[in-house]
Amino acid sequence: MNPPEGYLVLARKYRPADFGEVLGQPQAAGLLQNAVAQKRVAHAYLFTGPRGVGKTTVARILAKALNCTQGPRPDPCGQCPSCVEIAASSSLDVLEMDAASHTGVDNIREVIIDTVRLLPNRDRRKIFIIDEAHMLSQAAFNALLKTLEEPPPHVVFILATTEASKIPPTIGSRCQRLRFKPISPEDLARCLADVSKKEGIKAEPEALAVIARASEGSLRDALGLLDQARSFCEDEVLADGVREMLGYLGREMLESLAGALLGRDSRALALALQKIYEDGAEPAQVIRELRSLVEDIYLQKIGAKTGDTIPNSPRSPANPGAAPELGMVSPNFLAFILRRLNAALAELRFGDSPRLVLDLALFGAVEGGLDVENWISRLEAIENHLSGKNLGPGLREDSSEPELLAKLVASVGQDKASLAHAIERADILKNGEGYRLVFSRSFDLEQARRNQDAIAERLSALLGRPVSLALEERPAARSQGAAKEAKKESPSPSAPDPKALPPADDVADPAMKEAMRVFGGSLKVTKKSS
Ligand SMILES: Nc1ncnc2c1ncn2[C@@H]1O[C@H](COP(=O)(O)OP(=O)(O)OP(=O)(O)O)[C@@H](O)[C@H]1O
Ligand SMILES: [Mg+2]
Ligand SMILES: [Zn+2]
Repeated sequence: MNPPEGYLVLARKYRPADFGEVLGQPQAAGLLQNAVAQKRVAHAYLFTGPRGVGKTTVARILAKALNCTQGPRPDPCGQCPSCVEIAASSSLDVLEMDAASHTGVDNIREVIIDTVRLLPNRDRRKIFIIDEAHMLSQAAFNALLKTLEEPPPHVVFILATTEASKIPPTIGSRCQRLRFKPISPEDLARCLADVSKKEGIKAEPEALAVIARASEGSLRDALGLLDQARSFCEDEVLADGVREMLGYLGREMLESLAGALLGRDSRALALALQKIYEDGAEPAQVIRELRSLVEDIYLQKIGAKTGDTIPNSPRSPANPGAAPELGMVSPNFLAFILRRLNAALAELRFGDSPRLVLDLALFGAVEGGLDVENWISRLEAIENHLSGKNLGPGLREDSSEPELLAKLVASVGQDKASLAHAIERADILKNGEGYRLVFSRSFDLEQARRNQDAIAERLSALLGRPVSLALEERPAARSQGAAKEAKKESPSPSAPDPKALPPADDVADPAMKEAMRVFGGSLKVTKKSS
């Protein structure tokens, strides 16, 4: 359904006409209103902030406030020729320049430098609005700089940009800077409801909430999506229709997925994923939506947000008994999942197998879950498996950590080479919360004893938490112990090596290989921060 002839898009139709109508920018709007009222308007402003939050709109309102025939006044009349022309962008004294399409110095010269000294045609002030100012060329900035240094008294510059960091400091420092903020989802939803009402659009509140969230703080985007949704949804704008329009998962799918994940139910998860893949959803999109839902639940859990996102019991229809009440899910577990989802998103940018990334992220979360200890021992089991030791999960206590040892050796070696050699010949074993270094040679042990505090300090630094360190000599019988033996026979190098994990290519089992490729890095991180 095409919009009727002469249709004005909502974003233009509902452009605020005065400061009072501007949403979500109380600081910027308040400051400018005061400046006009107290006749202390600066010669140059720099409006910074994300797209679609009111920079150009406020620039025009300021222009009206300054040039209104009834003014200058903080609340321009909106009726006089100046106000009307400024609103229509046709005022001779308010020049708008889109720097994105006029980047060159010639443009600046033509539009600004050559006219800036001339008196205004009719109004009090000559006002230059330079949109997307960061796009100006270096030469254009230089030309502008001269004018900014000595602006004629009747001139006001308003530079607007989404990329403040690209404005040269010489320019920025000559402007008064106003920060525009992203509009909150609540304000966006309220505005959408308002506009829907005025337009006679029937819309479900949840549909508007979905649009608000998808707009990421931009009111222009929100109104644009409402425009689209109105034609997409025919009679009534419904949440499911909007989701479909945006290419989102259906609510039910999202909820079964979240339910399976948070309920740590692998079987339900497999079913939910299968459906999602059949539906043709894109893994990145799935992760983003899931993340946004889990983030909401997390924020509500820790009391940082109120709301009703926590579904009472998003049970998977396939396995209704399995998902626990979400009330039981701990914030720790939610944070753990959020980190995994973030990592998966980052990984998607490089990987060539998005489905695998999604599968691993979700199944990994379900399997590893809350039980970080258990998770660590699983990773250790993988590590052992990869280094040829097949010790099984039973050896969690006292398991050897060659990779940690290599790091410790490297750290100590920075200033004590011989001590590092001694440590290199030892084994490091996790011992509850602390660690044990077990030496085969008493000479090495002596040397370590003399430096025990220094070693413990390095180890704590590596692990990011204070740990206790015990030093001991290996009992003669154990010196040829099973672990050492296994090491010698293993195909990977037996000496502790900074790359104690073999490169993925050296691993035969393809599943393991992929697992290594995918979470090689996070394996280390998890251990460090445990
Ligand atoms: N703070 C706001 N209050 C009310 N409406 C707004 C606000 N911000 C944006 N809008 C709506 O969005 C439209 C576009 O806003 P505007 O052109 O001012 O954004 P902008 O910040 O200049 O964006 P860009 O950086 O993309 O140029 C306006 O016509 C208006 O309908
Ligand atoms: Mg703009
Ligand atoms: Zn006026």
